[in-house]
Amino acid sequence: MNAEIEKFHFEGGEFSERSRRLRGNPVLREMVRETRIMASCLLYPMFVTEGHGIREEIQAMPGQYRYSVDEFLKELTIVADSGVPGILLFGIPDHKDACGSGAWAEDGIIQKALRAAKREFPRLYCVTDVCMCEYTSHGHCGILCGHDVDNDRTLTVLAKTALSHVQAGADMVAPSDMMDFRVAAIRQTLDRNGYADTPIMAYSAKYASAFYGPFREAAGSAPSFGDRKTYQMDYHNRKEALKEVLQDVREGADIVMVKPGMSYLDIVREVTDAVDVPTAVYSVSGEYAMIKAAAAAGYIDEAAVVCESAVGMRRAGASILITYFAKELAGYIREGRIG
Ligand code: PBG
Repeated sequence: MNAEIEKFHFEGGEFSERSRRLRGNPVLREMVRETRIMASCLLYPMFVTEGHGIREEIQAMPGQYRYSVDEFLKELTIVADSGVPGILLFGIPDHKDACGSGAWAEDGIIQKALRAAKREFPRLYCVTDVCMCEYTSHGHCGILCGHDVDNDRTLTVLAKTALSHVQAGADMVAPSDMMDFRVAAIRQTLDRNGYADTPIMAYSAKYASAFYGPFREAAGSAPSFGDRKTYQMDYHNRKEALKEVLQDVREGADIVMVKPGMSYLDIVREVTDAVDVPTAVYSVSGEYAMIKAAAAAGYIDEAAVVCESAVGMRRAGASILITYFAKELAGYIREGRIG
């Protein structure tokens, strides 16, 4: 039947370039891949909470939990065994107040979790999210002045918080508040306290995004009034991302981040091309929730979609992928599905 279909004949001879030659053999396909992904570029975000024996699933994020410190340690065994080299830690305190004092408390939730994690898993790379929204009663990312966040007062508490994380064992701090000059304030504070070698990963191009919805449920950090648009970026903007990133590099950021991931891969590419520091991308809670929900409904193949979107972020230029699928991805890489 097919033999009846005549081959197409090009006038003046055939073209010699055939792209399919490099796709014909799986060994060769893998050999000529332009983008690589390894477990060593993954960071796994985790939530710790006060209490004991708590492992509470986050409703919109099946498979992700709020852990009390004892359960967190159990989970870290699994994380370490999976080959994921590091975590990004978020704290959910019992008590919140107007200035978010739980963020820098000596016995705060992050500080306790860090001391335990570094004691039990000294080689696990522990990054902490530095922000006030999980600790403030109003849910905004800083100190309020009327109905807006006061930038320069917030710098004081952010710097204090970052220092207390490092003193409790954080290997790196990641400010996510989007205040102006927070990187400079944190850098100066760490340097003056003997932590000149501790790197800062700045959430530099962080957009005001509806994709953070499930996270805010997880961390109980939704703002009680208004939104975050006076500090997080307007998603119509591209040049502003470059401005933010270059400013953070000038202030001393060692790594810059773009967040969210999926809808912002153009920004990841441009940022990667514009700076000489590594780029991280955060595939956020809403991205995880969408993939999980679609897979649960049987609409997509979860593993295949997780692999494809992770490689897409690497292809866009990111050195570091922050993803709730980190453990699964490490497995897919080990099995040779991607890499
Ligand atoms: C804290 C912070 C947020 C996220 C990371 N750090 C929430 C927000 O800015 O509202 C979102 C992470 C996610 O959605 O997975 N400011």
